[in-house]
Amino acid sequence: MEQKQVRRIGVLTSGGDAPGMNAAIRAIVRTATAEGVSVLGVRRGYSGLISTDFVELTSRSVARVLSLGGTMLYTARSEEMLSPEGVEKAANTCRYMGIDGLVVIGGDGSFRGALALAKQGIAAVGIPATIDNDIACTDYTIGFDTACNTAVEAVDKLRDTMQSHERCSVVEIMGRRAGHLALHVGIAVGATCILLPEREQDFESAVIEPIRLGRLHGRHHHLIIVAEGHGSASEVAAKVQSTTGMEARVTILGHIQRGGSPSARDRVIASQMGCHAAGLLMAGKAGRLVISQGGRILDCDIEDGLSRKKDLDQQLFEVAQIVCAAGK
Ligand code: F6P
Repeated sequence: MEQKQVRRIGVLTSGGDAPGMNAAIRAIVRTATAEGVSVLGVRRGYSGLISTDFVELTSRSVARVLSLGGTMLYTARSEEMLSPEGVEKAANTCRYMGIDGLVVIGGDGSFRGALALAKQGIAAVGIPATIDNDIACTDYTIGFDTACNTAVEAVDKLRDTMQSHERCSVVEIMGRRAGHLALHVGIAVGATCILLPEREQDFESAVIEPIRLGRLHGRHHHLIIVAEGHGSASEVAAKVQSTTGMEARVTILGHIQRGGSPSARDRVIASQMGCHAAGLLMAGKAGRLVISQGGRILDCDIEDGLSRKKDLDQQLFEVAQIVCAAGK
């Protein structure tokens, strides 16, 4: 069968924003327009696709977005896209607007929408972007590095006041049901203990004992990192205070972790992934996810990619056990 010529592609960002999304949009636009393919930006994710909220993107219109956090296309979590009617409306918009291929930048929820569109015959490809880094088929998702750095900078500041008051700081780190961000941040800030949803730990030996031991060795401040998916940071703090008598304070870093100018790593990977995604569509490929594996940018089948479950990096978890224990 003769391959249909690609004249126009669309791009949208969906789900939680992540630093580096703009760099990916820029790369998609520049790759496509260099080949004479026009690019429509879809505003507000799938909601915008359903309600036909578009903006024409040119090489010039993405000229100053590389260093900007957030997403110039806005984002949303569309309830409507979860229904067959919503998917049909979105697919009809693509046909009506002459969109020959669509790049979806987001997390696994967004890719389920892309898969549903692919099943309706719309050429869709996905780019993984979420600070959670929780997509199994790729080593890396855009935004993770920036979020790590943002959290580390904030926790370093907390340490100053925690030391002065000889307190225990309990810090909640985002990640939804995954602990990748918390694990990286915990190692980078030298936490006393890191509580993660993927690894059950005995509270007494993981949290209380290190604090008691630390006190014997003259250490009167502690930092506990709690992954959002593990449970309530307030409950952890209350338990620490009632069991050890040490004053505990909770800090929930929250959405600050999703903001800020993307790190160099995020800008570079987003640029690579954006070029790859546009290249796939222009080569007539669809139903693919752009992934990073062993430092290389590749792609895999969306359905296959979504069927896998990402576990915590066991080697990194073991490193955490050793280096956190060393400070007790
Ligand atoms: O998926 C990214 C993320 O920031 C998660 O870490 C967090 O659980 C969730 O989004 C928060 O979502 P919302 O922005 O809707 O509050």
